[in-house]
Amino acid sequence: MNVPNIIIAIDGYSSTGKSTFAKLLARKLGFLYLDSGALYRGVTLFAQEDRLISKLNIVDPALKTELQGLRLRFGEDGRLFMGDRCIEKQIRTMEVSSQVSPIAAVPYVREWVDEQLHEYGRKGRIVMDGRDIGTAVFPNAQLKIFMTASEQVRAQRRYDELKAKGEEPLLEEVVRNLRERDYIDSHRETAPLRRADDAFELDNSEMGFSEELAWAQGVIQGKFGIL
Ligand code: CDP
Repeated sequence: MNVPNIIIAIDGYSSTGKSTFAKLLARKLGFLYLDSGALYRGVTLFAQEDRLISKLNIVDPALKTELQGLRLRFGEDGRLFMGDRCIEKQIRTMEVSSQVSPIAAVPYVREWVDEQLHEYGRKGRIVMDGRDIGTAVFPNAQLKIFMTASEQVRAQRRYDELKAKGEEPLLEEVVRNLRERDYIDSHRETAPLRRADDAFELDNSEMGFSEELAWAQGVIQGKFGIL
């Protein structure tokens, strides 16, 4: 498909398969894929390693100044690096998942991440996924998609993903984490998770990847009149 220089924003609840879908779509269009959640996860790992967040999720205000020295960047293959260290594996653990939403609710953390995201989005031709991409980061994105799926499907997907990576999660714990993150993400004051008015909704509870792509292709053709 010959798609113009647009930004595609994909938002939605935890484990709705946003990143897999966004990656596939980006590859199909020849766009860059960017995972905004990875940056929130990177900041969370940084805060945990520097003991700037307590077990009770109290964030040390020193994080604000410490962030000035933090360097997070995506490698060629999309893996996240902190300085020279690849942190892709560490940011996907339950330990990071359990504290990422409180960190992502801090306004100066969001500002810091937004700066990086705007830089990546400057040239367009990007598919970015997250919670507030279509509502706050790129409110003028030319195409917005909001993803949902049933809780049971989402929990099973995340459980299988963690298992495949060698973790031993408990399904109840995975469900609890999804609910907790969805609640915090939708109720925070700064840029809460919500569907943008002009977003197309995709419920992929019973869809496979090829169906998702076919759906996206239909939406793009309809919206931009291109084949
Ligand atoms: O993969 P999953 O959908 O479970 O989460 P993620 O995209 O890796 O994002 C992890 C967390 O980062 C979310 O639960 C949000 O708390 C936060 N986040 C956010 O606040 N805004 C974004 N644009 C992306 C992620």
